[in-house]
Amino acid sequence: MPASDKPLDFLWFIPSSGDGAYLGSDLRARPGDPDYFRQIARAADRLGYSGVLIPTSVACEESFILAADLAAHTERLKFLVAVRPGTASPAYYARLASTLDRLSRGRLLLNIVVGGNAQELAGDGIFLPHDERYTHAREFFDVFNSLLETGEAHLDGTHIRAHHAKLGLPPFQKPRPPLYFGSSSDAAHDFAGDYVEKYLTWGEPPALVAEKIEAVRRAARAKGREVSFGIRLHFILRETDEEAWAAADRLISHLSDETISQAQEVQKNQSDSVGQERMRRLHEGRRDRLEVSPNLWAGVGLVRSGAGTALVGSPATVAARLREYQEIGIDTVIASGYPHLEEAYTVAELLFPEIGLKPAVPPLRPSFGAAQVFGGGGHGGNMKTGT
Ligand SMILES: Cc1cc2nc3c(=O)[nH]c(=O)nc-3n(C[C@H](O)[C@H](O)[C@H](O)COP(=O)(O)O)c2cc1C
Repeated sequence: MPASDKPLDFLWFIPSSGDGAYLGSDLRARPGDPDYFRQIARAADRLGYSGVLIPTSVACEESFILAADLAAHTERLKFLVAVRPGTASPAYYARLASTLDRLSRGRLLLNIVVGGNAQELAGDGIFLPHDERYTHAREFFDVFNSLLETGEAHLDGTHIRAHHAKLGLPPFQKPRPPLYFGSSSDAAHDFAGDYVEKYLTWGEPPALVAEKIEAVRRAARAKGREVSFGIRLHFILRETDEEAWAAADRLISHLSDETISQAQEVQKNQSDSVGQERMRRLHEGRRDRLEVSPNLWAGVGLVRSGAGTALVGSPATVAARLREYQEIGIDTVIASGYPHLEEAYTVAELLFPEIGLKPAVPPLRPSFGAAQVFGGGGHGGNMKTGT
Protein backbone atom coordinates (compact mmCIF):
# COMPACT_ATOMS: atom_id res chain seq x y z
CA MET A 1 0.00 0.00 0.00
CA PRO A 2 1.32 3.54 -0.74
CA ALA A 3 2.73 5.21 2.38
CA SER A 4 -0.06 7.82 2.27
CA ASP A 5 -2.73 5.08 2.61
CA LYS A 6 -1.35 3.79 5.90
CA PRO A 7 -3.14 5.05 9.03
CA LEU A 8 -1.30 7.93 10.68
CA ASP A 9 0.85 7.28 13.71
CA PHE A 10 -0.97 9.52 16.21
CA LEU A 11 0.62 10.86 19.39
CA TRP A 12 -0.76 13.15 22.09
CA PHE A 13 0.96 15.75 24.31
CA ILE A 14 1.65 16.07 28.05
CA PRO A 15 1.21 19.75 29.09
CA SER A 16 4.02 19.61 31.62
CA SER A 17 4.01 23.37 32.22
CA GLY A 18 0.27 23.48 33.02
CA ASP A 19 -3.06 23.36 31.18
CA GLY A 20 -6.32 25.24 30.88
CA ALA A 21 -9.57 25.86 29.02
CA TYR A 22 -8.70 29.41 27.81
CA LEU A 23 -5.48 30.80 26.37
CA GLY A 24 -3.83 33.71 28.17
CA SER A 25 -6.24 33.72 31.11
CA ASP A 26 -6.29 32.46 34.70
CA LEU A 27 -9.93 31.51 34.30
CA ARG A 28 -10.14 27.69 34.46
CA ALA A 29 -6.33 27.51 34.35
CA ARG A 30 -5.24 24.06 35.52
CA PRO A 31 -1.80 23.78 37.08
CA GLY A 32 -0.10 20.54 36.13
CA ASP A 33 0.65 17.95 38.78
CA PRO A 34 1.85 14.35 38.65
CA ASP A 35 -1.63 12.83 39.02
CA TYR A 36 -3.01 14.98 36.25
CA PHE A 37 -0.17 14.03 33.89
CA ARG A 38 -0.84 10.36 34.74
CA GLN A 39 -4.53 10.82 33.96
CA ILE A 40 -3.67 12.22 30.52
CA ALA A 41 -1.09 9.50 29.84
CA ARG A 42 -3.48 6.72 30.91
CA ALA A 43 -6.25 8.20 28.78
CA ALA A 44 -3.90 8.40 25.77
CA ASP A 45 -2.74 4.82 26.40
CA ARG A 46 -6.26 3.36 26.32
CA LEU A 47 -7.68 5.61 23.60
CA GLY A 48 -5.22 4.40 20.96
CA TYR A 49 -2.58 7.13 20.80
CA SER A 50 0.78 5.50 20.12
CA GLY A 51 2.75 7.90 22.29
CA VAL A 52 3.03 11.31 23.93
CA LEU A 53 5.42 14.21 23.39
CA ILE A 54 6.86 15.56 26.62
CA PRO A 55 8.13 19.10 26.00
CA THR A 56 11.23 20.67 27.50
CA SER A 57 11.82 24.21 28.75
CA VAL A 58 12.60 25.99 32.00
CA ALA A 59 8.81 26.18 32.52
CA CYS A 60 8.27 22.40 32.19
CA GLU A 61 8.81 19.46 34.51
CA GLU A 62 12.04 17.65 33.61
CA SER A 63 11.14 15.36 30.73
CA PHE A 64 13.16 12.18 31.44
CA ILE A 65 11.97 12.02 35.05
CA LEU A 66 8.37 12.68 34.07
CA ALA A 67 8.54 10.01 31.33
CA ALA A 68 9.91 7.46 33.82
CA ASP A 69 6.94 8.09 36.10
CA LEU A 70 4.40 7.92 33.27
CA ALA A 71 5.96 4.73 31.87
CA ALA A 72 5.22 3.05 35.22
CA HIS A 73 1.55 4.04 34.93
CA THR A 74 0.95 3.00 31.31
CA GLU A 75 1.27 -0.17 29.24
CA ARG A 76 1.79 0.63 25.56
CA LEU A 77 2.34 4.36 25.31
CA LYS A 78 5.68 5.61 23.93
CA PHE A 79 7.43 8.71 25.23
CA LEU A 80 8.99 11.29 22.95
CA VAL A 81 11.52 12.87 25.30
CA ALA A 82 13.90 15.74 24.58
CA VAL A 83 17.66 15.48 24.39
CA ARG A 84 19.18 18.99 24.53
CA PRO A 85 22.81 18.89 23.36
CA GLY A 86 24.94 21.03 25.63
CA THR A 87 22.85 20.74 28.79
CA ALA A 88 24.71 17.55 29.79
CA SER A 89 27.39 15.39 28.21
CA PRO A 90 26.45 12.88 25.51
CA ALA A 91 27.72 10.06 27.74
CA TYR A 92 25.39 11.10 30.56
CA TYR A 93 22.44 11.46 28.15
CA ALA A 94 23.25 7.99 26.75
CA ARG A 95 22.93 6.52 30.26
CA LEU A 96 19.63 8.36 30.83
CA ALA A 97 18.25 7.19 27.48
CA SER A 98 19.38 3.60 27.87
CA THR A 99 17.93 3.25 31.36
CA LEU A 100 14.61 4.81 30.38
CA ASP A 101 14.39 2.56 27.31
CA ARG A 102 15.15 -0.48 29.49
CA LEU A 103 12.72 0.51 32.27
CA SER A 104 9.93 1.06 29.75
CA ARG A 105 10.88 -1.99 27.64
CA GLY A 106 11.48 -0.10 24.44
CA ARG A 107 8.99 2.76 24.73
CA LEU A 108 11.46 5.62 24.38
CA LEU A 109 11.59 7.98 21.39
CA LEU A 110 14.10 10.84 21.44
CA ASN A 111 13.38 14.43 20.36
CA ILE A 112 16.50 16.44 19.57
CA VAL A 113 16.05 20.03 20.79
CA VAL A 114 18.93 22.27 19.77
CA GLY A 115 17.08 25.33 21.08
CA GLY A 116 16.48 28.88 19.92
CA ASN A 117 15.63 30.96 22.98
CA ALA A 118 18.71 33.04 23.81
CA GLN A 119 17.85 33.49 27.47
CA GLU A 120 17.19 29.80 28.02
CA LEU A 121 20.32 28.74 26.13
CA ALA A 122 22.46 31.19 28.14
CA GLY A 123 20.94 29.87 31.35
CA ASP A 124 22.09 26.40 30.34
CA GLY A 125 25.59 27.70 29.60
CA ILE A 126 25.22 27.52 25.80
CA PHE A 127 26.57 30.59 23.99
CA LEU A 128 27.17 29.23 20.49
CA PRO A 129 25.73 31.13 17.51
CA HIS A 130 22.82 29.53 15.63
CA ASP A 131 24.58 27.41 12.98
CA GLU A 132 27.42 26.39 15.26
CA ARG A 133 24.90 24.80 17.60
CA TYR A 134 24.29 22.28 14.81
CA THR A 135 28.03 21.56 14.44
CA HIS A 136 28.06 20.96 18.18
CA ALA A 137 24.98 18.73 17.86
CA ARG A 138 26.74 16.62 15.21
CA GLU A 139 29.62 15.89 17.58
CA PHE A 140 27.16 15.29 20.41
CA PHE A 141 25.23 12.67 18.43
CA ASP A 142 28.38 11.02 17.09
CA VAL A 143 29.22 10.18 20.70
CA PHE A 144 25.66 9.58 21.92
CA ASN A 145 24.73 7.24 19.03
CA SER A 146 27.97 5.32 19.17
CA LEU A 147 27.53 4.68 22.90
CA LEU A 148 23.95 3.47 22.50
CA GLU A 149 24.75 1.32 19.47
CA THR A 150 28.12 -0.16 20.49
CA GLY A 151 28.71 0.71 24.16
CA GLU A 152 31.83 2.74 23.27
CA ALA A 153 32.78 6.14 21.89
CA HIS A 154 35.88 8.26 21.47
CA LEU A 155 35.97 11.78 20.05
CA ASP A 156 38.34 14.74 20.08
CA GLY A 157 36.00 17.24 18.49
CA THR A 158 35.92 21.02 18.23
CA HIS A 159 33.18 21.24 20.83
CA ILE A 160 33.08 17.84 22.46
CA ARG A 161 35.81 15.64 23.87
CA ALA A 162 34.85 12.19 25.10
CA HIS A 163 37.77 9.88 25.75
CA HIS A 164 37.15 6.13 25.78
CA ALA A 165 33.55 6.67 26.88
CA LYS A 166 31.63 3.50 27.82
CA LEU A 167 28.00 2.54 28.27
CA GLY A 168 27.58 -0.65 30.30
CA LEU A 169 23.89 -1.39 29.72
CA PRO A 170 22.54 -1.30 26.15
CA PRO A 171 19.11 0.16 25.36
CA PHE A 172 16.14 -2.21 24.88
CA GLN A 173 15.61 -1.09 21.25
CA LYS A 174 18.17 -2.03 18.62
CA PRO A 175 20.25 -0.35 17.45
CA ARG A 176 18.90 2.44 19.73
CA PRO A 177 15.71 4.49 20.31
CA PRO A 178 14.80 6.48 17.16
CA LEU A 179 15.78 10.13 16.84
CA TYR A 180 13.05 12.70 16.07
CA PHE A 181 13.90 16.32 15.36
CA GLY A 182 12.06 19.53 14.47
CA SER A 183 13.87 22.68 13.32
CA SER A 184 13.53 24.77 10.20
CA SER A 185 16.86 26.40 9.34
CA ASP A 186 19.12 25.25 6.48
CA ALA A 187 21.71 24.05 9.02
CA ALA A 188 18.97 22.04 10.71
CA HIS A 189 17.84 20.43 7.45
CA ASP A 190 21.39 19.27 6.69
CA PHE A 191 21.69 17.93 10.21
CA ALA A 192 18.36 16.09 9.82
CA GLY A 193 19.53 14.50 6.57
CA ASP A 194 22.59 13.11 8.31
CA TYR A 195 21.32 12.09 11.73
CA VAL A 196 17.58 11.71 12.30
CA GLU A 197 14.97 9.08 11.61
CA LYS A 198 11.93 11.37 11.75
CA TYR A 199 11.80 15.06 10.86
CA LEU A 200 9.07 17.06 12.61
CA THR A 201 7.48 20.35 11.63
CA TRP A 202 5.10 22.65 13.41
CA GLY A 203 1.74 23.02 11.66
CA GLU A 204 2.48 25.30 8.73
CA PRO A 205 0.19 25.27 5.64
CA PRO A 206 0.73 22.19 3.42
CA ALA A 207 2.67 24.03 0.68
CA LEU A 208 5.22 25.37 3.21
CA VAL A 209 5.53 21.97 4.90
CA ALA A 210 6.11 20.38 1.48
CA GLU A 211 9.11 22.68 0.87
CA LYS A 212 10.75 21.61 4.12
CA ILE A 213 10.06 17.94 3.48
CA GLU A 214 11.69 18.27 0.09
CA ALA A 215 14.77 20.00 1.56
CA VAL A 216 15.25 17.33 4.24
CA ARG A 217 14.60 14.50 1.77
CA ARG A 218 17.22 15.93 -0.59
CA ALA A 219 19.77 16.27 2.22
CA ALA A 220 19.11 12.70 3.38
CA ARG A 221 19.24 11.17 -0.11
CA ALA A 222 22.58 12.88 -0.76
CA LYS A 223 23.85 10.71 2.11
CA GLY A 224 22.01 7.58 0.95
CA ARG A 225 19.52 7.85 3.82
CA GLU A 226 15.71 7.99 4.14
CA VAL A 227 13.87 10.15 6.68
CA SER A 228 10.17 10.00 7.57
CA PHE A 229 8.02 13.00 8.51
CA GLY A 230 5.68 14.16 11.26
CA ILE A 231 3.65 17.27 12.11
CA ARG A 232 2.81 18.91 15.43
CA LEU A 233 -0.69 20.41 15.53
CA HIS A 234 -3.42 21.41 17.96
CA PHE A 235 -6.93 20.15 17.21
CA ILE A 236 -10.27 21.84 17.75
CA LEU A 237 -12.76 19.18 16.74
CA ARG A 238 -16.50 19.31 17.24
CA GLU A 239 -19.38 17.46 15.59
CA THR A 240 -19.94 20.28 13.09
CA ASP A 241 -17.65 22.89 11.52
CA GLU A 242 -19.72 25.69 13.08
CA GLU A 243 -19.32 24.27 16.58
CA ALA A 244 -15.58 23.82 16.04
CA TRP A 245 -15.09 27.46 14.93
CA ALA A 246 -17.13 28.63 17.93
CA ALA A 247 -14.82 26.58 20.17
CA ALA A 248 -11.77 28.20 18.53
CA ASP A 249 -13.22 31.67 19.23
CA ARG A 250 -13.98 30.63 22.82
CA LEU A 251 -10.39 29.47 23.38
CA ILE A 252 -9.13 33.05 22.90
CA SER A 253 -12.20 34.82 24.31
CA HIS A 254 -10.38 35.88 27.49
CA LEU A 255 -7.15 36.85 25.78
CA SER A 256 -6.30 40.57 26.03
CA ASP A 257 -4.49 42.60 23.37
CA GLU A 258 -1.86 43.43 25.97
CA THR A 259 -1.13 39.73 26.61
CA ILE A 260 -0.85 39.15 22.87
CA SER A 261 1.64 41.99 22.35
CA GLN A 262 3.78 40.87 25.31
CA ALA A 263 3.91 37.31 23.94
CA GLN A 264 4.69 38.55 20.43
CA GLU A 265 7.58 40.68 21.77
CA VAL A 266 9.11 37.57 23.35
CA GLN A 267 8.63 35.46 20.22
CA LYS A 268 10.21 38.16 18.07
CA ASN A 269 13.10 39.33 20.21
CA GLN A 270 14.23 36.47 22.41
CA SER A 271 14.56 33.77 19.79
CA ASP A 272 16.83 33.12 16.82
CA SER A 273 14.79 30.07 15.84
CA VAL A 274 13.92 30.03 12.15
CA GLY A 275 11.01 27.68 12.91
CA GLN A 276 9.58 30.11 15.48
CA GLU A 277 9.87 33.04 13.06
CA ARG A 278 8.05 31.07 10.35
CA MET A 279 5.20 30.41 12.78
CA ARG A 280 5.07 34.06 13.93
CA ARG A 281 4.95 35.34 10.37
CA LEU A 282 1.82 33.29 9.67
CA HIS A 283 -0.29 35.71 11.75
CA GLU A 284 2.02 38.61 12.87
CA GLY A 285 0.06 38.79 16.12
CA ARG A 286 -3.15 39.87 14.35
CA ARG A 287 -6.51 38.49 15.42
CA ASP A 288 -8.02 39.24 11.99
CA ARG A 289 -5.86 36.86 9.96
CA LEU A 290 -5.92 33.66 11.92
CA GLU A 291 -7.17 31.19 9.30
CA VAL A 292 -3.81 30.91 7.56
CA SER A 293 -4.87 28.08 5.25
CA PRO A 294 -8.25 26.32 4.99
CA ASN A 295 -9.18 25.11 8.52
CA LEU A 296 -5.69 25.87 9.82
CA TRP A 297 -6.07 28.45 12.62
CA ALA A 298 -3.12 30.31 14.14
CA GLY A 299 -4.92 31.57 17.28
CA VAL A 300 -2.79 29.46 19.62
CA GLY A 301 0.36 31.17 18.33
CA LEU A 302 -0.90 34.58 19.46
CA VAL A 303 0.41 33.66 22.90
CA ARG A 304 2.08 30.27 22.79
CA SER A 305 5.54 29.89 21.34
CA GLY A 306 6.33 26.80 19.29
CA ALA A 307 3.28 24.86 18.09
CA GLY A 308 0.84 27.65 17.31
CA THR A 309 -1.72 26.29 14.84
CA ALA A 310 -4.80 24.10 15.14
CA LEU A 311 -6.86 22.17 12.64
CA VAL A 312 -10.44 23.31 13.22
CA GLY A 313 -13.58 21.53 12.04
CA SER A 314 -15.82 18.51 12.02
CA PRO A 315 -14.28 15.03 11.86
CA ALA A 316 -14.81 14.81 8.09
CA THR A 317 -13.26 18.25 7.48
CA VAL A 318 -10.22 17.61 9.67
CA ALA A 319 -9.70 14.12 8.20
CA ALA A 320 -9.65 15.68 4.72
CA ARG A 321 -7.03 18.24 5.81
CA LEU A 322 -4.89 15.52 7.38
CA ARG A 323 -5.08 13.62 4.12
CA GLU A 324 -3.50 16.63 2.35
CA TYR A 325 -0.55 16.42 4.73
CA GLN A 326 -0.30 12.65 4.20
CA GLU A 327 -0.13 13.17 0.47
CA ILE A 328 3.00 15.29 0.82
CA GLY A 329 4.70 12.68 3.01
CA ILE A 330 3.54 13.16 6.62
CA ASP A 331 3.06 9.82 8.43
CA THR A 332 2.98 10.98 12.06
CA VAL A 333 0.87 13.52 13.96
CA ILE A 334 1.66 14.91 17.40
CA ALA A 335 -1.64 16.34 18.55
CA SER A 336 -2.95 18.36 21.44
CA GLY A 337 -5.98 20.39 22.51
CA TYR A 338 -7.07 22.48 25.50
CA PRO A 339 -7.65 21.11 28.07
CA HIS A 340 -5.53 18.07 27.28
CA LEU A 341 -7.47 15.45 29.21
CA GLU A 342 -10.91 16.24 27.80
CA GLU A 343 -9.61 16.89 24.30
CA ALA A 344 -7.67 13.60 24.23
CA TYR A 345 -11.12 11.97 24.43
CA THR A 346 -12.74 14.38 21.95
CA VAL A 347 -10.10 13.81 19.28
CA ALA A 348 -10.07 10.04 19.76
CA GLU A 349 -13.87 9.70 19.81
CA LEU A 350 -14.61 12.01 16.88
CA LEU A 351 -11.55 11.75 14.62
CA PHE A 352 -10.08 8.27 15.08
CA PRO A 353 -13.03 6.43 13.43
CA GLU A 354 -12.66 8.77 10.40
CA ILE A 355 -8.95 8.04 9.98
CA GLY A 356 -8.96 4.31 10.67
CA LEU A 357 -7.58 4.30 14.23
CA LYS A 358 -9.01 2.15 17.01
CA PRO A 359 -8.95 2.35 20.79
CA ALA A 360 -6.14 0.30 22.32
CA VAL A 361 -8.53 -1.20 24.86
CA PRO A 362 -11.54 -2.87 23.20
CA PRO A 363 -14.85 -1.89 24.86
CA LEU A 364 -16.30 -4.32 27.42
CA ARG A 365 -19.58 -6.11 26.55
CA PRO A 366 -22.18 -3.48 27.50
CA SER A 367 -24.95 -5.86 28.68
CA PHE A 368 -26.57 -9.28 28.33
CA GLY A 369 -29.03 -7.57 26.03
CA ALA A 370 -31.61 -6.53 28.64
CA ALA A 371 -34.00 -3.95 27.27
CA GLN A 372 -33.92 -1.61 30.24
CA VAL A 373 -31.98 -1.71 33.44
CA PHE A 374 -32.81 0.50 36.40
CA GLY A 375 -30.69 3.66 36.23
CA GLY A 376 -30.23 3.44 32.46
CA GLY A 377 -30.57 6.71 30.67
CA GLY A 378 -30.14 6.32 26.95
CA HIS A 379 -26.37 6.43 26.48
CA GLY A 380 -26.00 3.01 24.84
CA GLY A 381 -25.41 -0.52 26.05
CA ASN A 382 -27.69 -1.54 28.89
CA MET A 383 -29.09 1.95 29.00
CA LYS A 384 -30.85 1.58 25.66
CA THR A 385 -34.59 1.32 25.63
CA GLY A 386 -36.63 -0.86 23.34
CA THR A 387 -33.90 -3.32 22.35
C1 LIG B 1 7.57 19.08 17.06
C2 LIG B 1 8.56 20.01 17.68
C3 LIG B 1 8.79 19.94 19.04
C4 LIG B 1 9.69 20.81 19.67
N1 LIG B 1 9.86 20.71 21.01
C5 LIG B 1 10.62 21.63 21.65
C6 LIG B 1 10.71 21.63 23.07
O1 LIG B 1 10.12 20.79 23.77
N2 LIG B 1 11.48 22.58 23.66
C7 LIG B 1 12.15 23.54 22.93
O2 LIG B 1 12.82 24.38 23.54
N3 LIG B 1 12.10 23.54 21.58
C8 LIG B 1 11.33 22.63 20.93
N4 LIG B 1 11.26 22.66 19.56
C9 LIG B 1 12.06 23.68 18.83
C10 LIG B 1 13.23 23.12 18.08
O3 LIG B 1 13.77 22.01 18.73
C11 LIG B 1 14.40 24.07 17.76
O4 LIG B 1 15.15 24.30 18.91
C12 LIG B 1 14.05 25.39 17.18
O5 LIG B 1 13.07 25.31 16.21
C13 LIG B 1 15.29 26.10 16.61
O6 LIG B 1 15.72 25.58 15.40
P1 LIG B 1 15.72 26.33 13.98
O7 LIG B 1 16.27 27.73 14.13
O8 LIG B 1 16.61 25.50 13.13
O9 LIG B 1 14.30 26.36 13.50
C14 LIG B 1 10.39 21.78 18.90
C15 LIG B 1 10.16 21.85 17.52
C16 LIG B 1 9.26 20.99 16.91
C17 LIG B 1 9.02 21.10 15.43
